[in-house]
Amino acid sequence: MQASINAAIAKEVKNLNRYPDRDAIKLRSALADEIKRQSGLSFGVENIWAANGSNEILQSIALAFSGDAMGFEPSYSMHPLVNRSVGKKWISIPRQADFSIDLPTSLKAIRDLKPGLVYLTTPNNPSGNATPIEHLEQMAETCQEVGAIFVVDEAYAEFSNNVSALSLLNRFPNVIISRTMSKAFAFAGVRVGYMIADPILIEAMLLIRLPYHLSSLTQSAALAALTHSQELSAQIAKIIDSRKFLAKELESLGLIVIGSEANFLLFTGFKESASELFTKLVDKGVLIRDVSIPGYLRVTIGTEDENKAFLKALTSIL
Ligand SMILES: Cc1ncc(COP(=O)(O)O)c(C=O)c1O
Repeated sequence: MQASINAAIAKEVKNLNRYPDRDAIKLRSALADEIKRQSGLSFGVENIWAANGSNEILQSIALAFSGDAMGFEPSYSMHPLVNRSVGKKWISIPRQADFSIDLPTSLKAIRDLKPGLVYLTTPNNPSGNATPIEHLEQMAETCQEVGAIFVVDEAYAEFSNNVSALSLLNRFPNVIISRTMSKAFAFAGVRVGYMIADPILIEAMLLIRLPYHLSSLTQSAALAALTHSQELSAQIAKIIDSRKFLAKELESLGLIVIGSEANFLLFTGFKESASELFTKLVDKGVLIRDVSIPGYLRVTIGTEDENKAFLKALTSIL
């Protein structure tokens, strides 16, 4: 994959005097093919918009649509940040103790507060748990009732066996799915995120985008990577196996692990504070994430050696 990305970039370097394709047609078409490969569902270029990471997608959505923004927290911290940065009110609805959505409370909050945008991350970051499709459907329906756009952030979807909200798009024109090449494609440095939605919502993105926002190097690197997407499935399967292994090992140390459908695990049940345990692990050369949830830490699934080094360091501390 690296060789073909190198070749694609080398070819593009000869044309850097030219502006890129401002509509990124080839890339959007390749992303539609990738979604078809993953889900079996057919979308066209008119259903896809691409940008510099899904953070830019999320910011563009906040810029394009009116009304307050609502989310179910703890979740991805950029959702409130991008919305507040464009002057929107952020409404935070708490998740339950196990990080699942409290469906009746959430549906009532949407009905009562009538936000313009509702954000849901599934699998959720930082907890890793996924929201079942039946709940996503009810949320999409309730959003439709109040005229809200339902933004489903599926940054970690490729690591999950849960049914994607993509399956709702043909019935709910108010749903946006946000995806990224940063996680499953291990392509975070290139900055490619995208959204799948009804063509009317994609047209709104075209209205607010900056011209030529996606460089020709980005577009060609992403196109080259997408031709290797099948190879990635094997790597993803490996990460899922390692996630299961790591979860079992953590539980055998007496820890509590939140059921994860992502490429990380959130765990609790240790006696130190999260920051104390985090620092002790750093002292042993292991860096994980303190996600600012008291009593919890998040570990990303690494290589076999990294996972073993983490377990060894943790065992020696607990
Ligand atoms: C839930 C979620 N959405 C979106 C992003 C942004 O990813 P990117 O901008 O690299 O596509 C992240 C990154 O951590 C994330 O966790």
